[in-house]
Parts: sequence; C-alpha cells; structure tokens
Amino acid sequence: MRGGRLMLPALLVLLASAAAAGGSNITFIGVAQPERARVNWVLKCQGCHRPDGSGSPHTAPALAGQVARFVGLPGGREYLGRVPGVADAALDNKELAELLNWTLQRFDRGHLPPNFRPYDAAELAALRRAPLRTDASQMRRTILQAPHAIR
Ligand code: HEC
Repeated sequence: MRGGRLMLPALLVLLASAAAAGGSNITFIGVAQPERARVNWVLKCQGCHRPDGSGSPHTAPALAGQVARFVGLPGGREYLGRVPGVADAALDNKELAELLNWTLQRFDRGHLPPNFRPYDAAELAALRRAPLRTDASQMRRTILQAPHAIR
C-alpha cells in the first residue's frame, strides 16, 4: 500500500478542481452538456459579464444572484432571449438555449421559480428573431420596476 498514501491528496485535488469548475455533480436542467455550456460562457460571455458573473460597472450587469429574477417577471422570460448579448451570440439555437439555462442555474439558482421550464431551441429561435437594440436598457428597467419584482 505504498502508493495508497499518495492517492488521497491526489483525489482531494481532483475533487476540489471539479468543484471549482462549477460543480459537475450539480444538476442543470435543460443543459445537455454542462462542460460545453461552460466553455461557451468563457468564449462568448465572460468578457463582459466577468468569469464569476459579477459584471462590470457601466459595461454589463451582474448576473450572479440576480439574473433569474427575470424569469418570473412579466416580459422577463422573453427579455432574456432577446437581449443583444444572448440573441446575437454566435451559437446555434440549441447551444444558446443550453447556455442560457446553464447561466441561470450557475449564477442565480436561488431566484429560479420552482416550476422553471428550461428554454429550448425553438423558443430561442423565435426570441432572437426579434433582438433588442437600443431599447434593451429601457425594457430592462420596466421589467424590474414591476410592482411585484423580487429584489
Ligand atoms: C459586449 C458585452 C456583452 C457580452 C459579450 C454579453 N453580454 Fe450579456 N449583457 C450585456 C449588457 C450591457 C446587458 C444589459 C442589457 C443591455 O443593455 O444590452 C446584458 C444583459 C444580459 C442578460 C440579461 C440580464 C440583465 O440583468 O439585464 C443576460 C441573461 C445576459 N446578458 C447573458 C449573456 C450571455 C449568456 C452572454 C454570452 C452568450 C452575454 N450576455 C454576452 C453585455 C454583454
């Protein structure tokens, strides 16, 4: 059992890095390939929203602890698929739906309604046909000002 002693630290390092990578043991609904979603996040989104979803002042809003509030607000579900960073991403509808589902669960699981129905390719296809442009920030404000908006 000489090698046995070396195995445990190696295993712990492996487990720790799996957890740091976003917790491969956590279930993501509507996400066929969590690792692909994570890579798409790194390539297409984190430049503006930061790796941890904390956002950058004046550049991109924080998604962490915030983004899933939209799902339960009037017009919010549609807004998330039409916002330019999402609608214009260079991804097909299937990978974009997967990425949006992953984003919601990775960064703001706590605000997701219990009956959350994941986005699918057909819904994203329809929403990104009507991308928001200069009207995105006004729509964002209106949705968040709804009387029952969750803070
Ligand atoms: C060029 C910078 C940029 C990139 C790249 C970008 N976003 Fe955004 N994102 C924004 C800005 C700015 C907003 C706020 C709405 C607006 O004014 O467009 C936003 C809003 C959002 C929202 C709505 C939440 C809110 O608080 O308004 C989601 C969800 C989102 N982005 C996800 C993504 C995802 C997923 C990607 C990658 C596919 C991405 N974004 C890429 C800048 C960016």
